[in-house]
Amino acid sequence: MGLVLLVLAHVAFLSNAGGPRVIIVGAGMSGISAGKRLSEAGITDLVILEATDRMGGRIHNAKFAGVNVEMGANWVEGVNGDEMNPIWTMANGTGGLNLRTFRSDFSHLAGNTYKQDGGLYDEKLVEKIIERVDEVAESGRKLSSALHHNGQLDMSVMVMQRLNYHMPSGPVGPLDMVIDYYHHDFEFAEPPRDTSLLNTQPLATFNNFGNDVYFVADHRGYESVVYHIAEQYLETDHKSGAIVDPRLKLNTVVREITYLPNSVMVNTEDNKEVYQADYVIVSASLGVLQTDLIRFNPELPWWKMMSIYQFNMAVYTKIFLKFPRRFWPEGPGKQFFLYASDRRGYYPVWQQFQKEYPGSDVLLVTVTDDESRRIEQQSDKQTLTEAMEVLRKMFPGKDVPDATEILVPRWWSNRFFRGTFSNWPIGVNRYEYDLIRAPVGRVYFTGEHTSEKYNGYVHGAYLAGIDSANILINCAEKKNVHLQCQGKT
Ligand SMILES: Cc1cc2nc3c(=O)[nH]c(=O)nc-3n(C[C@H](O)[C@H](O)[C@H](O)COP(=O)(O)OP(=O)(O)OC[C@H]3O[C@@H](n4cnc5c(N)ncnc54)[C@H](O)[C@@H]3O)c2cc1C
Ligand SMILES: *[C@@H]1O[C@H](CO)[C@@H](O)[C@H](O)[C@H]1NC(C)=O
Repeated sequence: MGLVLLVLAHVAFLSNAGGPRVIIVGAGMSGISAGKRLSEAGITDLVILEATDRMGGRIHNAKFAGVNVEMGANWVEGVNGDEMNPIWTMANGTGGLNLRTFRSDFSHLAGNTYKQDGGLYDEKLVEKIIERVDEVAESGRKLSSALHHNGQLDMSVMVMQRLNYHMPSGPVGPLDMVIDYYHHDFEFAEPPRDTSLLNTQPLATFNNFGNDVYFVADHRGYESVVYHIAEQYLETDHKSGAIVDPRLKLNTVVREITYLPNSVMVNTEDNKEVYQADYVIVSASLGVLQTDLIRFNPELPWWKMMSIYQFNMAVYTKIFLKFPRRFWPEGPGKQFFLYASDRRGYYPVWQQFQKEYPGSDVLLVTVTDDESRRIEQQSDKQTLTEAMEVLRKMFPGKDVPDATEILVPRWWSNRFFRGTFSNWPIGVNRYEYDLIRAPVGRVYFTGEHTSEKYNGYVHGAYLAGIDSANILINCAEKKNVHLQCQGKT
């Protein structure tokens, strides 16, 4: 008790605008979106504590080889469907940001699939395999919607594949594996073995918002959608575009959240500062919640911990390479190409940027999961050597120059992220998933991993921020005292 009083003496009290005071942990898409919703509801006594030196979190552009590339989110996924993706409204809509975007066309992969030792596969052969994969996906969606009727709770995507292919480990052989990888791992960053059939087939993102995806290649960066939201309630320097609002505190790492009788106390790294508020909204990633970076005092209840630890944080790594000159095929239908290795997921999906970054001579190769973790732990030089070996195998007749620069984002090693986005694993039901979002006393949760329908995506994070803020607003006003407010006891 004496200790608590001592600490309280150092608490930084800011002005109280009358309404409740809310601390938001994290200035990524969901935290910034939650802050906007609270502000609209008149809750303006906010403090946003962000560990890094910037806003945007997993939406993060970087200068590479003279162009602005995206180390995190890159596509607006789910466009041209029945419903409007709210991120698309911001990125492309009139009155929005008018970001430079390009619809990605994956329909020519059959003509762009390279053999392990070089040269292209016969297009007709690859087309046949893709057709079969599409048929299996369709039967997977049917099976998924029939699961409840059969009394079956869930199965992995791979179990569904076994039913179709009669192969214990799904598609085998370099070609079948890379096509399988492209359809599953390239979207969910985990293999079909880990992914829930029930909760990913069909996927609400494409079902509701449409099947198209638009690649953002804008000098302002994809993160400008986060700034676009922030500007609407945080004081902004309109010349530089910088957020100058004193309620946004960068370089502030939250380490401990303590429940007090009628409030919550938040301690930061090195106890630089102590904050106290009526409510806290935690928007740190699922990966962060699975570590002990943020300690809860007392510990979170068992049901909450289980919901957090049961879900998966996946890893998706975008490796950019800069070359002294282009040696890869260009022109219509040549944007994406695949490398079919007998090692599943070994430098599998490649992208060139003739339209997006003209004249930049940059390639992007994407790896996920185990390969991501392996590559994060080795030197960039080693990764460059491996990628060069693959490229020289793909183009045996060509004079392939060494890449001169490489960019390897390390989302998994970064203690403020611990991965890239959540993936729905087999064995977590809807109710258990909802518990990830459920508040525990005065502490609320948001982030893409709490999104009702769109976990893993930018629009999921955006909508989750609004939803979690609404739950807080309702609970604070005691409009609503069921599970949403109390969690499970
Ligand atoms: C490589 C990659 C590719 C992706 N591709 C796409 C894509 O193409 N399309 C798409 O829609 N989505 C994509 N995503 C997913 C999308 O980026 C995320 O779903 C979304 O940005 C997550 O927002 P968030 O607010 O939930 O989390 P975050 O952006 O992680 O925000 C949380 C914030 O909390 C901060 N934080 C963490 N711990 C602490 C602490 N202890 N104290 C204070 N602050 C803390 C973090 O620094 C971060 O800024 C991708 C993500 C990655 C990484
Ligand atoms: C994007 O916005 C432009 C300009 O308003 C419009 O012409 C175009 O159709 C939009 N694209 C999509 C896919 O909605």
